[in-house]
Amino acid sequence: MRNQQIPVLITGGAGFAGRYLAQLLRKNGRKVYIFDHNPLSEKGEAWEEIEEHYIIDLTQTKDLRKRLKSIRPAEIFHLAGKANVKHSWYGESETYLTNVIGVVNLMCAIRDTGLRSNLLIISSGEVYGQVPDSEQPITEKRSPAPRSPYAGSKLCQEIAALQLARSLKGKTVIVRPFNHIGPGQRLGFVTADFAHQIARIEHKLQEPLIHVGNLDARRDFTDVRDMVEGYVKALEFGTSGDVINLCSGKTWSIKEILDYMTSLSSVDITVRVDPERFRPSDINLLQGNHDYMTRLSQWNPELDIADTLTDIINYWRKQVSLETVT
Ligand code: GDD
Repeated sequence: MRNQQIPVLITGGAGFAGRYLAQLLRKNGRKVYIFDHNPLSEKGEAWEEIEEHYIIDLTQTKDLRKRLKSIRPAEIFHLAGKANVKHSWYGESETYLTNVIGVVNLMCAIRDTGLRSNLLIISSGEVYGQVPDSEQPITEKRSPAPRSPYAGSKLCQEIAALQLARSLKGKTVIVRPFNHIGPGQRLGFVTADFAHQIARIEHKLQEPLIHVGNLDARRDFTDVRDMVEGYVKALEFGTSGDVINLCSGKTWSIKEILDYMTSLSSVDITVRVDPERFRPSDINLLQGNHDYMTRLSQWNPELDIADTLTDIINYWRKQVSLETVT
């Protein structure tokens, strides 16, 4: 029975979205392999039935071909990469190296091993840059105009992937996810940063003062659990060379997110806007249009943001209480 399971590979599979994707693929009866330069972040349900986890750094080619040959994945979900927009300003070369050379090394290795694997590349809605409000929600027809080093690296990644796709036997599909959030996301992303501080305040580990950055920005948020369903469907229904938005189509200002998250706490919290948390340049509004994806696959995000934010706060309450006992 086990031998009949289809082998699939997630690069960057030890990260935030990778963990949810692994769980979904296991549920769909796949045999899941992971490449990551980190060990699995948390022991838990998602990791219990992982076939194998290999420490692989995609900026190097060491072991890559050997591992691909032994796994022979039918599908590869390329999640490995630098995802933090703010950090990309002072980590430009690392961001470009990981996001661009990573995909080049992976795709050359797939080509050289002669595999027929279908490949999903995770780009970003950030590639569109600053689009006038009147021209949003943004469709895939919009020309990208990246503002951050992160967005620049994601557009370069797309270009490299589309070029190399021509020499691969399987299909290559690119998705442009907008903001996705959920329990387990690392600090450095807005909802994790807010929830972590709220939980610390509740545990009396910091005074009832929350430090925040730009509250005026609006973002299109999707629960990570809906997002990974989108990854699977995009690869299943997309054709080679497709570039597909994944988003909810709805936006919230960061202030609305903050107000909702603080309202979930019984502590009275004061807000302090901290210039350190601003970026050299921020996008005011990012709202995606997912009509193409919905026509293609019937995908439609279902989870309510209020539930997602509650889950995130509860996750951080648990994390902080674990921190306090260790
Ligand atoms: N991280 C963070 N922390 N952001 C804050 C804070 C804070 O304390 N306060 C305000 N913000 C604002 C940021 O300035 C930005 O306008 C917005 O909240 C969202 O920031 P992030 O959560 O860091 O996400 P992002 O929009 O820059 O990028 C995310 O979405 C992209 C797709 O649209 C990331 O997940 C990217 O990897 C992803 O590609």
